[in-house]
Amino acid sequence: MTEASDETTVARVHLSAEATRRASRHWWDIDADHYQAEHGAFLGDADLLWGPEGLRESSARLLGPLAGRRVLEVGCGAAAGARWVATQGATVVGVDLSAGMLRHARLGAEATGIRVPLAQCDAMALPLRDRSFDLAFTAFGAVAFVDDSAAVHREVYRVLRPGGRWIFGTTHPVRWIFPDDPGPAGLVATSSYFDRRPYVEFSEAGVATYVEHHRTLGDRVREVVAAGFALVDLIEPEWPEWHEEEWGQWSPLRGHLFPGTAIYVAVRP
Ligand SMILES: C[S@@+](CC[C@H](N)C(=O)[O-])C[C@H]1O[C@@H](n2cnc3c(N)ncnc32)[C@H](O)[C@@H]1O
Repeated sequence: MTEASDETTVARVHLSAEATRRASRHWWDIDADHYQAEHGAFLGDADLLWGPEGLRESSARLLGPLAGRRVLEVGCGAAAGARWVATQGATVVGVDLSAGMLRHARLGAEATGIRVPLAQCDAMALPLRDRSFDLAFTAFGAVAFVDDSAAVHREVYRVLRPGGRWIFGTTHPVRWIFPDDPGPAGLVATSSYFDRRPYVEFSEAGVATYVEHHRTLGDRVREVVAAGFALVDLIEPEWPEWHEEEWGQWSPLRGHLFPGTAIYVAVRP
C-alpha cells in the first residue's frame, strides 16, 4: 500500500483482471524512481533481501545451491536479487511488468557490471519455455499485484522442471487486519482477515492507480497446491533486534509483535 495523496480515494472493492493489470503497470512505472530512491540503498546493488525485516538470502539459503542452476526472478524490479544470484554462479533471467522498474534493472547492471537477461511481461503469462528453470523466486514481486495469483503459480509451475522450487515472499496475510501504519495505530485490528476484496487507490477521475490483492494463509496454500506444487516450508522472518529502519508499514514496533512477511517454499514434484 502507498502513501495515498489528498486526491486519492482508497477502497476495498472488487476489480477486474484488466483494471488490476493497468493499475499495477501504471503504478510501478510512475513510482519506480521513488521506490529506488527510498529503498535502493537498503536493497543493495547485488543482494537478495526477502523483505523489510532484512533477511538476506546469503544467510537464509532458501534457494539452496546456486552454482550452475537456471533461475528465474519474477517481479524482479531493479533486479538486485537476480544480480546477487548471478554472482553465485547461476544463470538468471529477470521478468517484470513495469518498464520503469526494468529501467532501474538496466541502471543496476551498468553500475555493477553484472548483466542478467531481462524481459517485460506479466507473471500470469510468462514468455518462457516449459521446464526451462531449476528455481524461481520473488521478493514481494507480482503475486499480490495480480487479481489471480493462482495463475502466477500455474505459470511458474509450467516453466520449472520437475524437482524445481518456487520461493515467493509477500506481505504476511495477518497484516491485512490492521491499518497500514508503522506506529501504534497499526496495532489495532480494524479489518476482517476474511475480506478478500483488494485494496484499491483511485485517482480523482475514478481510475484505479494502485491495487494490492489479499489472500488468507489458507488461500495461498490452496492456490500453490492446486497448481501442482508441494508446499514444504513457510518462513515468517522475525524482526532482528539490531534493525531500526522502517519500510512503510513495516516497523520495529510491529515487527517485534507479529510477522510482516510470509515466504512460501514450494516444490514441483
Ligand atoms: C514491491 S515491488 C518488488 C520489486 C523487487 N522484487 C524488490 O524486492 O524490490 C513489486 C514488483 O512487482 C512487479 N509486478 C507487479 N505486477 C506484476 C505482474 N503482473 N507481473 C510481473 N511483475 C509485476 C512490479 O512492477 C514491481 O517491480
